[in-house]
Amino acid sequence: MSAEITAPKRLAILTSGGDAPGMNAAIRAATLVTCAAGWEVFGVRQGYQGLIEDKLEPLGPRDVQRIVREGGTMLGSARCKAFHERATRDRARAILAARGISGLVVIGGNGSLAGALALSDPEEAGDAAPRVVGIPASIDNDLALTSLSIGVDTAMNTIVEACDKIADTASAHDRTFIIEVMGRDCGYLAMTSAVAAGADLVLYPEAERGDDEMVQDVVRAVEAVRKRAVRDRRVIAIKSEGVRLSTTELKQRVDEALMRAGGDPEHPVETRVTVLGHVVRGGRPSAFDRLLGSRLANVAVRALISGRTRVMAAWLPPSELPTAIATRSSDDPYCFVVDLPAVLRATEELLEGEGALANWRKAVFMQLDAVLSL
Ligand code: F6P
Repeated sequence: MSAEITAPKRLAILTSGGDAPGMNAAIRAATLVTCAAGWEVFGVRQGYQGLIEDKLEPLGPRDVQRIVREGGTMLGSARCKAFHERATRDRARAILAARGISGLVVIGGNGSLAGALALSDPEEAGDAAPRVVGIPASIDNDLALTSLSIGVDTAMNTIVEACDKIADTASAHDRTFIIEVMGRDCGYLAMTSAVAAGADLVLYPEAERGDDEMVQDVVRAVEAVRKRAVRDRRVIAIKSEGVRLSTTELKQRVDEALMRAGGDPEHPVETRVTVLGHVVRGGRPSAFDRLLGSRLANVAVRALISGRTRVMAAWLPPSELPTAIATRSSDDPYCFVVDLPAVLRATEELLEGEGALANWRKAVFMQLDAVLSL
């Protein structure tokens, strides 16, 4: 009788890149679903950097019981430049193999998922390639083939809450506020928050406006509000960090332009700047992000355990996709399992402002732009 040799059923989970609220919900669900399937789970500390330093520890249901409410990530995160090198990835694969880990769940954004793809490249790694599944998590919402990534909803709520507060003091003083929000090169957060916060103006990189044009846009918004309102002459302008003109310079040029336009020197329009920065990325995840993280993790882990690799769990891809690229999850009708190389190709296109999604976003942003300033 020959004894059957079975590979250990072990997977590892890591969070990588900029943290996003809801990552903990994904870690918790991934751990619980994996354990329920009779597999062992390892948590990797500090993303790919921790992986190459062999910073792995067993994770069980007790470890993740209370994390769903917490912002950030219990595993820690990092940006690991060394992972671009083949030798570093060889080391990561060797560490996983030495621990008998055959699958890796990567929770993160564009760069993190590109790392997962390189790690599992069959041409580079042959039989040593681990299975990988991705879970989209980035407040920027700049990943394609998923309508939402984990963290976007919470970040949007944080921005709206901050804008509401700023609007109170802006109204009291008749001031104009330029509020800079994160989002890297993508205007999604700025635009959606502007709509939800009732902002008067939004500046976003997809518009590709010149500096002078943006200065004029703010000035026009100030003049329009002053013309129509006797009371509450505040102006809220949301500016995406992806807009190249610095917020400080924008303010200065708006002040100068308002003076030149014949403002009352005794009562000049007062402008103020608030850069929300990393505040946008922190805080307790919204209920939606907790559910999104849990549902995507459930689908991702089940896909990995069933033998899938080089795929990502996605939330309602924004367009009909061929079945070679996306299949509806049999575990969750709102989730899809999408081909990871296709995700990264479409993301590159989106970031270059090309392709159907980029065109659709640009068109919708322009429509919103036109009505926000009425
Ligand atoms: O990608 C998420 C993000 O928060 C971006 O919005 C921002 O540009 C960047 O990360 C900031 O990165 P870091 O925390 O490394 O400064």
